[in-house]
Amino acid sequence: MLTSDRMLIRGGRPLSGRVRAQGAKNAALPVMAASLLLKGRSLKLSRVPDLQDIHTMADLLRHLGAEIEFKDGTMTIDVPEDLKWETPSDLVRKMRASSLVLGPLVARCGRAVLPLPGGCAIGSRPIDFHLKALTRMGAEIDLEQGSVHARTDGLSATRINFDFPSVGATENIMMTAALTEGETTIENAAREPEIENLADALRAMGASVEGDGTSTVSVKGARDLVSAKVTIIPDRIEASTYLLAGMITRGRVAVDGIDPAYAAALLSKLEEAGITAATSDDSVSLDCRGAGWNGVTIKTLPYPGFPTDMQPQIMAALCLADGTSIIHESVFDSRYMHVGEFRRMGCKIDIQGNTVVITGVPQISGAEVHASDLRAGAALILLGLAAEGETVVCALKHVWRGYERLTDKLRSLGADIELLPDGESADKFDDAGD
Ligand code: EPZ
Repeated sequence: MLTSDRMLIRGGRPLSGRVRAQGAKNAALPVMAASLLLKGRSLKLSRVPDLQDIHTMADLLRHLGAEIEFKDGTMTIDVPEDLKWETPSDLVRKMRASSLVLGPLVARCGRAVLPLPGGCAIGSRPIDFHLKALTRMGAEIDLEQGSVHARTDGLSATRINFDFPSVGATENIMMTAALTEGETTIENAAREPEIENLADALRAMGASVEGDGTSTVSVKGARDLVSAKVTIIPDRIEASTYLLAGMITRGRVAVDGIDPAYAAALLSKLEEAGITAATSDDSVSLDCRGAGWNGVTIKTLPYPGFPTDMQPQIMAALCLADGTSIIHESVFDSRYMHVGEFRRMGCKIDIQGNTVVITGVPQISGAEVHASDLRAGAALILLGLAAEGETVVCALKHVWRGYERLTDKLRSLGADIELLPDGESADKFDDAGD
Protein backbone atom coordinates (compact mmCIF):
# COMPACT_ATOMS: atom_id res chain seq x y z
CA MET A 1 0.00 0.00 0.00
CA LEU A 2 1.48 3.32 -1.08
CA THR A 3 1.76 5.70 1.85
CA SER A 4 3.59 8.74 0.49
CA ASP A 5 1.51 11.80 1.26
CA ARG A 6 2.75 14.14 -1.48
CA MET A 7 3.07 13.86 -5.25
CA LEU A 8 5.14 16.09 -7.59
CA ILE A 9 3.66 16.34 -11.09
CA ARG A 10 5.46 17.96 -14.02
CA GLY A 11 2.49 18.97 -16.15
CA GLY A 12 1.81 19.81 -19.78
CA ARG A 13 2.42 16.33 -21.24
CA PRO A 14 -0.45 14.79 -23.25
CA LEU A 15 -1.25 11.32 -21.84
CA SER A 16 -1.76 8.40 -24.14
CA GLY A 17 -2.33 4.67 -23.79
CA ARG A 18 -4.71 2.19 -22.17
CA VAL A 19 -5.48 1.33 -18.52
CA ARG A 20 -7.81 -1.31 -17.07
CA ALA A 21 -10.54 -0.30 -14.62
CA GLN A 22 -10.16 -1.56 -11.04
CA GLY A 23 -12.98 -3.31 -9.18
CA ALA A 24 -15.48 -0.81 -7.82
CA LYS A 25 -14.67 0.41 -4.29
CA ASN A 26 -18.31 1.37 -3.73
CA ALA A 27 -19.51 -2.10 -4.75
CA ALA A 28 -16.89 -4.07 -2.80
CA LEU A 29 -17.57 -2.25 0.50
CA PRO A 30 -21.30 -3.15 0.80
CA VAL A 31 -20.69 -6.70 -0.47
CA MET A 32 -18.01 -7.14 2.22
CA ALA A 33 -20.51 -5.89 4.84
CA ALA A 34 -23.12 -8.37 3.53
CA SER A 35 -20.84 -11.24 4.57
CA LEU A 36 -21.90 -10.54 8.19
CA LEU A 37 -25.32 -12.01 7.33
CA LEU A 38 -23.69 -15.46 7.08
CA LYS A 39 -23.37 -17.78 10.07
CA GLY A 40 -20.44 -20.19 10.01
CA ARG A 41 -20.13 -19.77 6.25
CA SER A 42 -17.99 -17.83 3.80
CA LEU A 43 -18.24 -15.26 1.04
CA LYS A 44 -15.69 -15.22 -1.79
CA LEU A 45 -15.22 -11.98 -3.75
CA SER A 46 -13.19 -11.51 -6.92
CA ARG A 47 -11.95 -8.30 -8.58
CA VAL A 48 -11.65 -6.54 -5.20
CA PRO A 49 -9.45 -3.42 -5.50
CA ASP A 50 -6.42 -3.09 -3.19
CA LEU A 51 -7.39 0.22 -1.53
CA GLN A 52 -7.11 1.80 1.89
CA ASP A 53 -10.90 1.71 2.37
CA ILE A 54 -11.03 -2.01 1.55
CA HIS A 55 -8.39 -2.69 4.22
CA THR A 56 -10.32 -0.52 6.69
CA MET A 57 -13.52 -2.51 6.06
CA ALA A 58 -11.55 -5.77 6.38
CA ASP A 59 -10.14 -4.60 9.74
CA LEU A 60 -13.67 -3.77 10.89
CA LEU A 61 -15.00 -7.21 9.89
CA ARG A 62 -12.03 -8.87 11.63
CA HIS A 63 -12.78 -6.85 14.76
CA LEU A 64 -16.32 -8.27 14.66
CA GLY A 65 -14.96 -11.83 14.38
CA ALA A 66 -14.59 -12.60 10.68
CA GLU A 67 -11.43 -14.15 9.22
CA ILE A 68 -10.30 -12.59 5.96
CA GLU A 69 -7.76 -13.55 3.31
CA PHE A 70 -7.12 -11.00 0.56
CA LYS A 71 -4.61 -11.56 -2.25
CA ASP A 72 -4.40 -10.52 -5.91
CA GLY A 73 -7.95 -9.22 -6.01
CA THR A 74 -9.53 -12.29 -4.42
CA MET A 75 -10.99 -12.01 -0.92
CA THR A 76 -12.40 -14.82 1.22
CA ILE A 77 -14.40 -13.82 4.30
CA ASP A 78 -15.11 -16.62 6.80
CA VAL A 79 -17.86 -15.61 9.22
CA PRO A 80 -18.13 -17.44 12.57
CA GLU A 81 -21.31 -18.62 14.33
CA ASP A 82 -20.97 -15.77 16.86
CA LEU A 83 -20.10 -12.18 16.01
CA LYS A 84 -19.31 -9.13 18.12
CA TRP A 85 -21.79 -6.34 17.51
CA GLU A 86 -19.96 -3.28 18.88
CA THR A 87 -17.98 -1.38 16.24
CA PRO A 88 -14.77 0.47 17.18
CA SER A 89 -14.89 4.25 16.96
CA ASP A 90 -11.45 4.65 15.35
CA LEU A 91 -12.40 2.50 12.34
CA VAL A 92 -15.92 3.94 11.95
CA ARG A 93 -14.63 7.51 12.08
CA LYS A 94 -11.98 6.63 9.50
CA MET A 95 -14.55 5.54 6.93
CA ARG A 96 -18.22 6.50 6.70
CA ALA A 97 -19.02 3.33 4.79
CA SER A 98 -18.58 1.51 8.12
CA SER A 99 -22.26 2.37 8.67
CA LEU A 100 -23.00 -0.43 6.18
CA VAL A 101 -22.41 -3.03 8.93
CA LEU A 102 -25.30 -1.63 11.00
CA GLY A 103 -28.16 -3.39 9.22
CA PRO A 104 -26.40 -6.76 8.90
CA LEU A 105 -25.45 -6.74 12.62
CA VAL A 106 -28.99 -5.90 13.75
CA ALA A 107 -30.44 -8.60 11.47
CA ARG A 108 -27.82 -11.18 12.47
CA CYS A 109 -27.21 -10.46 16.19
CA GLY A 110 -30.30 -8.48 17.19
CA ARG A 111 -27.96 -5.75 18.42
CA ALA A 112 -25.40 -3.23 17.18
CA VAL A 113 -23.45 -0.28 18.53
CA LEU A 114 -22.09 2.13 15.89
CA PRO A 115 -20.37 5.46 16.65
CA LEU A 116 -22.11 8.10 14.54
CA PRO A 117 -19.85 8.91 11.57
CA GLY A 118 -18.95 12.61 11.74
CA GLY A 119 -19.22 15.16 8.97
CA CYS A 120 -16.53 15.45 6.35
CA ALA A 121 -15.26 17.75 3.62
CA ILE A 122 -18.23 17.04 1.34
CA GLY A 123 -21.07 17.48 3.77
CA SER A 124 -22.74 16.63 7.08
CA ARG A 125 -23.39 13.03 5.98
CA PRO A 126 -26.12 11.97 8.46
CA ILE A 127 -27.52 8.43 8.53
CA ASP A 128 -31.07 9.35 9.56
CA PHE A 129 -32.61 7.52 6.56
CA HIS A 130 -30.85 4.31 7.65
CA LEU A 131 -32.06 4.66 11.25
CA LYS A 132 -35.67 5.55 10.33
CA ALA A 133 -35.92 2.52 8.04
CA LEU A 134 -34.45 0.14 10.64
CA THR A 135 -36.94 1.50 13.17
CA ARG A 136 -39.79 0.79 10.74
CA MET A 137 -38.51 -2.80 10.49
CA GLY A 138 -38.72 -3.16 14.26
CA ALA A 139 -35.34 -2.07 15.61
CA GLU A 140 -35.18 0.14 18.72
CA ILE A 141 -32.63 2.89 18.10
CA ASP A 142 -31.11 5.04 20.86
CA LEU A 143 -28.40 7.66 20.45
CA GLU A 144 -26.10 7.61 23.48
CA GLN A 145 -22.74 9.38 23.80
CA GLY A 146 -22.48 9.90 20.05
CA SER A 147 -23.19 6.26 19.19
CA VAL A 148 -26.18 4.47 17.69
CA HIS A 149 -27.42 1.68 19.99
CA ALA A 150 -29.74 -0.60 18.03
CA ARG A 151 -31.54 -3.69 19.29
CA THR A 152 -34.46 -5.88 18.27
CA ASP A 153 -36.33 -8.98 19.41
CA GLY A 154 -37.14 -9.65 15.78
CA LEU A 155 -37.41 -7.61 12.60
CA SER A 156 -40.44 -7.60 10.28
CA ALA A 157 -40.62 -7.15 6.56
CA THR A 158 -42.32 -3.89 5.60
CA ARG A 159 -42.57 -1.13 3.01
CA ILE A 160 -39.86 1.55 3.21
CA ASN A 161 -39.99 4.83 1.32
CA PHE A 162 -36.84 6.98 1.23
CA ASP A 163 -37.09 10.79 1.07
CA PHE A 164 -33.95 10.67 -1.09
CA PRO A 165 -32.51 7.69 -3.07
CA SER A 166 -29.64 7.23 -0.63
CA VAL A 167 -27.07 4.66 -1.80
CA GLY A 168 -25.97 3.60 1.68
CA ALA A 169 -29.47 3.51 3.16
CA THR A 170 -30.73 1.39 0.23
CA GLU A 171 -27.82 -1.01 0.72
CA ASN A 172 -28.26 -1.20 4.50
CA ILE A 173 -31.97 -2.05 4.21
CA MET A 174 -31.46 -4.55 1.36
CA MET A 175 -28.98 -6.44 3.55
CA THR A 176 -31.22 -6.25 6.63
CA ALA A 177 -34.21 -7.50 4.63
CA ALA A 178 -32.18 -10.41 3.23
CA LEU A 179 -32.23 -11.99 6.71
CA THR A 180 -35.78 -10.91 7.58
CA GLU A 181 -38.62 -13.29 6.74
CA GLY A 182 -41.22 -11.89 4.36
CA GLU A 183 -41.02 -9.31 1.58
CA THR A 184 -39.54 -5.87 2.22
CA THR A 185 -40.15 -3.27 -0.49
CA ILE A 186 -37.92 -0.21 -0.79
CA GLU A 187 -39.41 2.70 -2.71
CA ASN A 188 -37.34 5.61 -4.03
CA ALA A 189 -34.36 3.24 -3.79
CA ALA A 190 -30.95 4.19 -5.21
CA ARG A 191 -30.40 2.81 -8.73
CA GLU A 192 -26.57 2.79 -8.89
CA PRO A 193 -24.84 -0.22 -10.55
CA GLU A 194 -23.27 -0.92 -7.14
CA ILE A 195 -26.78 -1.63 -5.82
CA GLU A 196 -27.22 -4.29 -8.51
CA ASN A 197 -23.87 -5.84 -7.60
CA LEU A 198 -24.99 -6.08 -3.96
CA ALA A 199 -28.27 -7.64 -5.14
CA ASP A 200 -26.25 -10.23 -7.10
CA ALA A 201 -24.40 -11.08 -3.89
CA LEU A 202 -27.60 -11.37 -1.83
CA ARG A 203 -29.22 -13.58 -4.48
CA ALA A 204 -26.13 -15.81 -4.53
CA MET A 205 -26.43 -16.05 -0.74
CA GLY A 206 -30.05 -17.24 -1.03
CA ALA A 207 -32.21 -14.13 -0.70
CA SER A 208 -34.68 -13.23 -3.43
CA VAL A 209 -34.08 -9.68 -4.71
CA GLU A 210 -36.04 -8.03 -7.52
CA GLY A 211 -36.09 -4.54 -9.02
CA ASP A 212 -32.47 -3.70 -8.19
CA GLY A 213 -31.37 -0.89 -10.55
CA THR A 214 -34.90 0.56 -10.48
CA SER A 215 -36.49 2.83 -7.87
CA THR A 216 -38.45 -0.03 -6.32
CA VAL A 217 -36.46 -2.93 -4.87
CA SER A 218 -38.12 -5.90 -3.18
CA VAL A 219 -36.26 -8.39 -0.99
CA LYS A 220 -37.65 -11.68 0.31
CA GLY A 221 -35.45 -12.69 3.21
CA ALA A 222 -34.29 -16.18 4.16
CA ARG A 223 -33.82 -17.56 7.67
CA ASP A 224 -30.37 -18.80 6.79
CA LEU A 225 -28.09 -17.58 4.00
CA VAL A 226 -25.46 -19.75 2.33
CA SER A 227 -21.82 -19.38 1.25
CA ALA A 228 -21.47 -17.67 -2.11
CA LYS A 229 -19.08 -16.26 -4.71
CA VAL A 230 -19.38 -12.74 -6.16
CA THR A 231 -17.46 -10.80 -8.80
CA ILE A 232 -17.20 -7.07 -8.12
CA ILE A 233 -18.19 -4.79 -11.03
CA PRO A 234 -15.69 -2.34 -12.56
CA ASP A 235 -15.22 1.06 -10.93
CA ARG A 236 -17.05 3.59 -13.14
CA ILE A 237 -15.68 6.59 -11.21
CA GLU A 238 -12.05 5.46 -11.37
CA ALA A 239 -12.47 4.67 -15.07
CA SER A 240 -14.05 8.06 -15.78
CA THR A 241 -11.24 9.80 -13.90
CA TYR A 242 -8.64 8.30 -16.28
CA LEU A 243 -10.71 9.32 -19.31
CA LEU A 244 -10.67 12.91 -18.05
CA ALA A 245 -6.90 12.65 -17.46
CA GLY A 246 -6.58 11.99 -21.20
CA MET A 247 -8.95 14.82 -22.04
CA ILE A 248 -7.48 17.50 -19.76
CA THR A 249 -3.95 16.83 -21.13
CA ARG A 250 -5.30 16.79 -24.71
CA GLY A 251 -4.07 13.23 -25.16
CA ARG A 252 -5.68 9.92 -26.07
CA VAL A 253 -6.64 7.48 -23.29
CA ALA A 254 -8.67 4.28 -23.37
CA VAL A 255 -10.04 2.44 -20.36
CA ASP A 256 -10.64 -1.31 -20.67
CA GLY A 257 -12.92 -3.54 -18.61
CA ILE A 258 -15.69 -0.97 -18.22
CA ASP A 259 -19.26 -1.08 -19.56
CA PRO A 260 -19.79 2.30 -21.34
CA ALA A 261 -23.38 2.32 -20.04
CA TYR A 262 -21.97 2.95 -16.53
CA ALA A 263 -20.50 6.26 -17.78
CA ALA A 264 -23.45 7.32 -19.98
CA ALA A 265 -24.16 10.58 -18.15
CA LEU A 266 -20.51 11.69 -18.38
CA LEU A 267 -20.15 10.67 -22.04
CA SER A 268 -23.27 12.55 -23.06
CA LYS A 269 -22.02 15.70 -21.28
CA LEU A 270 -18.66 15.36 -23.04
CA GLU A 271 -20.52 15.02 -26.35
CA GLU A 272 -22.31 18.28 -25.54
CA ALA A 273 -18.89 19.85 -24.89
CA GLY A 274 -17.70 18.65 -28.30
CA ILE A 275 -15.74 15.56 -27.22
CA THR A 276 -16.98 12.25 -28.63
CA ALA A 277 -15.98 8.97 -27.04
CA ALA A 278 -15.33 5.76 -28.95
CA THR A 279 -16.85 2.74 -27.18
CA SER A 280 -16.94 -1.04 -27.43
CA ASP A 281 -18.86 -3.41 -25.15
CA ASP A 282 -16.14 -3.26 -22.51
CA SER A 283 -14.03 -0.19 -23.19
CA VAL A 284 -14.25 3.58 -23.64
CA SER A 285 -11.66 5.84 -25.25
CA LEU A 286 -11.31 9.57 -25.81
CA ASP A 287 -9.05 11.09 -28.46
CA CYS A 288 -8.50 14.72 -27.43
CA ARG A 289 -5.26 15.38 -29.28
CA GLY A 290 -5.29 19.05 -30.30
CA ALA A 291 -8.91 19.27 -29.14
CA GLY A 292 -10.78 22.10 -27.42
CA TRP A 293 -14.15 21.84 -25.68
CA ASN A 294 -17.06 24.11 -24.90
CA GLY A 295 -18.45 25.01 -21.53
CA VAL A 296 -21.54 23.04 -20.42
CA THR A 297 -24.13 23.09 -17.65
CA ILE A 298 -24.15 20.12 -15.27
CA LYS A 299 -26.38 19.18 -12.37
CA THR A 300 -25.20 16.25 -10.25
CA LEU A 301 -27.95 13.74 -9.54
CA PRO A 302 -28.46 10.21 -8.22
CA TYR A 303 -27.79 7.51 -10.84
CA PRO A 304 -28.41 7.50 -13.78
CA GLY A 305 -27.87 11.28 -13.56
CA PHE A 306 -24.43 12.90 -13.63
CA PRO A 307 -22.49 11.37 -10.69
CA THR A 308 -21.50 13.67 -7.83
CA ASP A 309 -18.30 11.61 -7.51
CA MET A 310 -17.23 13.00 -10.90
CA GLN A 311 -18.06 16.63 -10.01
CA PRO A 312 -14.53 17.74 -8.96
CA GLN A 313 -12.96 15.93 -11.93
CA ILE A 314 -15.28 17.40 -14.59
CA MET A 315 -14.87 20.81 -12.92
CA ALA A 316 -11.12 20.49 -13.50
CA ALA A 317 -11.63 19.79 -17.22
CA LEU A 318 -14.17 22.63 -17.56
CA CYS A 319 -11.66 25.08 -16.05
CA LEU A 320 -9.83 24.73 -19.41
CA ALA A 321 -12.95 24.93 -21.63
CA ASP A 322 -13.47 27.56 -24.36
CA GLY A 323 -16.31 29.27 -22.55
CA THR A 324 -18.34 29.31 -19.36
CA SER A 325 -19.76 26.33 -17.47
CA ILE A 326 -22.21 25.97 -14.61
CA ILE A 327 -22.21 23.08 -12.12
CA HIS A 328 -25.00 22.57 -9.62
CA GLU A 329 -24.19 20.09 -6.84
CA SER A 330 -27.54 18.66 -5.76
CA VAL A 331 -26.46 15.51 -3.90
CA PHE A 332 -24.16 16.83 -1.14
CA ASP A 333 -24.61 20.01 0.84
CA SER A 334 -21.08 21.34 0.53
CA ARG A 335 -18.91 19.60 -2.03
CA TYR A 336 -16.86 22.67 -3.10
CA MET A 337 -13.95 22.51 -0.64
CA HIS A 338 -11.67 21.89 -3.62
CA VAL A 339 -12.53 25.20 -5.36
CA GLY A 340 -10.06 27.21 -3.24
CA GLU A 341 -7.26 24.86 -4.24
CA PHE A 342 -8.28 25.05 -7.92
CA ARG A 343 -8.05 28.86 -7.76
CA ARG A 344 -4.44 28.61 -6.55
CA MET A 345 -3.63 27.15 -9.99
CA GLY A 346 -5.33 29.97 -11.90
CA CYS A 347 -8.82 28.48 -12.32
CA LYS A 348 -11.63 31.06 -12.49
CA ILE A 349 -14.53 29.77 -10.38
CA ASP A 350 -17.30 31.70 -8.67
CA ILE A 351 -19.33 29.89 -5.96
CA GLN A 352 -22.97 30.94 -5.64
CA GLY A 353 -24.58 28.70 -2.99
CA ASN A 354 -24.66 25.14 -4.34
CA THR A 355 -23.81 26.34 -7.85
CA VAL A 356 -20.46 27.27 -9.33
CA VAL A 357 -19.81 29.33 -12.46
CA ILE A 358 -16.55 28.38 -14.20
CA THR A 359 -14.92 30.73 -16.71
CA GLY A 360 -12.63 28.68 -18.93
CA VAL A 361 -8.98 29.84 -19.15
CA PRO A 362 -6.39 28.86 -21.79
CA GLN A 363 -3.76 27.75 -19.30
CA ILE A 364 -3.28 27.03 -15.60
CA SER A 365 -0.03 26.93 -13.65
CA GLY A 366 1.38 24.48 -11.12
CA ALA A 367 1.19 25.15 -7.35
CA GLU A 368 1.23 23.33 -4.03
CA VAL A 369 -2.35 22.18 -3.37
CA HIS A 370 -4.07 20.04 -0.73
CA ALA A 371 -6.64 17.31 -1.26
CA SER A 372 -9.75 17.76 0.90
CA ASP A 373 -11.36 14.43 0.02
CA LEU A 374 -10.94 11.48 -2.31
CA ARG A 375 -12.38 12.91 -5.53
CA ALA A 376 -11.05 16.44 -4.89
CA GLY A 377 -7.57 14.89 -4.65
CA ALA A 378 -8.08 13.09 -7.94
CA ALA A 379 -9.22 16.34 -9.57
CA LEU A 380 -6.15 18.24 -8.31
CA ILE A 381 -3.97 15.55 -9.88
CA LEU A 382 -5.81 16.08 -13.18
CA LEU A 383 -5.14 19.81 -12.95
CA GLY A 384 -1.47 19.12 -12.15
CA LEU A 385 -1.18 16.92 -15.24
CA ALA A 386 -2.51 19.77 -17.42
CA ALA A 387 -0.78 22.71 -15.69
CA GLU A 388 2.34 24.48 -16.89
CA GLY A 389 5.24 23.72 -14.53
CA GLU A 390 5.27 21.70 -11.32
CA THR A 391 2.37 20.88 -9.00
CA VAL A 392 2.68 19.25 -5.58
CA VAL A 393 -0.53 17.57 -4.43
CA CYS A 394 -0.54 17.05 -0.64
CA ALA A 395 -2.72 14.90 1.66
CA LEU A 396 -2.67 12.01 -0.79
CA LYS A 397 -4.03 9.75 2.00
CA HIS A 398 -7.45 10.74 0.65
CA VAL A 399 -6.54 9.55 -2.84
CA TRP A 400 -5.06 6.18 -1.82
CA ARG A 401 -8.50 5.36 -0.36
CA GLY A 402 -10.04 5.03 -3.81
CA TYR A 403 -7.46 4.72 -6.60
CA GLU A 404 -5.54 1.45 -6.92
CA ARG A 405 -1.98 1.71 -8.37
CA LEU A 406 -2.67 5.32 -9.35
CA THR A 407 0.97 6.28 -9.86
CA ASP A 408 1.75 3.19 -11.98
CA LYS A 409 -1.34 3.71 -14.11
CA LEU A 410 -0.66 7.41 -14.73
CA ARG A 411 3.03 6.75 -15.46
CA SER A 412 2.00 4.03 -17.95
CA LEU A 413 0.09 6.80 -19.76
CA GLY A 414 3.20 9.02 -19.87
CA ALA A 415 2.69 11.19 -16.80
CA ASP A 416 5.82 12.63 -15.16
CA ILE A 417 5.13 11.93 -11.48
CA GLU A 418 7.35 11.66 -8.41
CA LEU A 419 6.22 10.61 -4.93
CA LEU A 420 7.80 12.91 -2.32
CA PRO A 421 8.58 12.18 1.31
CA ASP A 422 5.83 13.47 3.59
CA GLY A 423 6.02 17.24 3.98
CA GLU A 424 5.82 19.24 7.18
CA SER A 425 2.60 20.92 6.00
CA ALA A 426 -0.22 19.65 8.20
CA ASP A 427 -3.29 18.31 6.46
CA LYS A 428 -5.31 21.48 5.81
CA PHE A 429 -8.61 19.61 5.67
CA ASP A 430 -8.12 16.90 8.26
CA ASP A 431 -11.45 15.10 8.74
CA ALA A 432 -13.14 11.68 8.65
CA GLY A 433 -13.14 9.89 5.32
CA ASP A 434 -16.19 9.21 3.16
C1 EPZ B 1 -22.23 6.74 -1.46
O1 EPZ B 1 -22.18 7.47 -0.25
C2 EPZ B 1 -20.81 6.69 -1.97
N1 EPZ B 1 -19.96 5.99 -1.00
C3 EPZ B 1 -20.28 8.11 -2.19
O2 EPZ B 1 -18.98 7.98 -2.77
C4 EPZ B 1 -21.19 8.81 -3.19
O3 EPZ B 1 -20.76 10.15 -3.33
C5 EPZ B 1 -22.63 8.79 -2.69
O4 EPZ B 1 -23.04 7.42 -2.44
C6 EPZ B 1 -23.61 9.39 -3.70
O5 EPZ B 1 -23.51 8.70 -4.91
C7 EPZ B 1 -20.00 4.65 -0.97
O6 EPZ B 1 -20.74 4.00 -1.70
C8 EPZ B 1 -19.10 3.97 0.02
P1 EPZ B 1 -25.94 8.78 -0.02
P2 EPZ B 1 -23.50 7.52 0.71
O7 EPZ B 1 -26.50 8.10 1.19
O8 EPZ B 1 -24.19 6.22 0.69
C9 EPZ B 1 -27.84 12.46 2.33
C10 EPZ B 1 -16.68 8.31 -3.00
O9 EPZ B 1 -16.05 9.29 -3.40
N2 EPZ B 1 -28.24 11.47 3.34
O10 EPZ B 1 -26.49 8.42 -1.36
O11 EPZ B 1 -23.07 8.09 2.01
C11 EPZ B 1 -26.34 12.64 2.28
O12 EPZ B 1 -25.90 13.55 3.28
C12 EPZ B 1 -17.85 8.51 -2.06
O13 EPZ B 1 -16.45 7.11 -3.33
C13 EPZ B 1 -29.03 11.87 4.39
O14 EPZ B 1 -29.39 13.05 4.51
O15 EPZ B 1 -24.37 8.60 -0.07
C14 EPZ B 1 -26.11 13.15 0.90
O16 EPZ B 1 -26.38 14.55 0.87
C15 EPZ B 1 -18.01 9.96 -1.64
N3 EPZ B 1 -29.40 10.95 5.33
C16 EPZ B 1 -27.17 12.41 0.07
O17 EPZ B 1 -28.16 11.97 1.02
C17 EPZ B 1 -29.02 9.63 5.24
O18 EPZ B 1 -29.41 8.82 6.09
C18 EPZ B 1 -26.64 11.22 -0.69
O19 EPZ B 1 -26.04 10.36 0.24
C19 EPZ B 1 -28.21 9.24 4.15
C20 EPZ B 1 -27.84 10.17 3.21
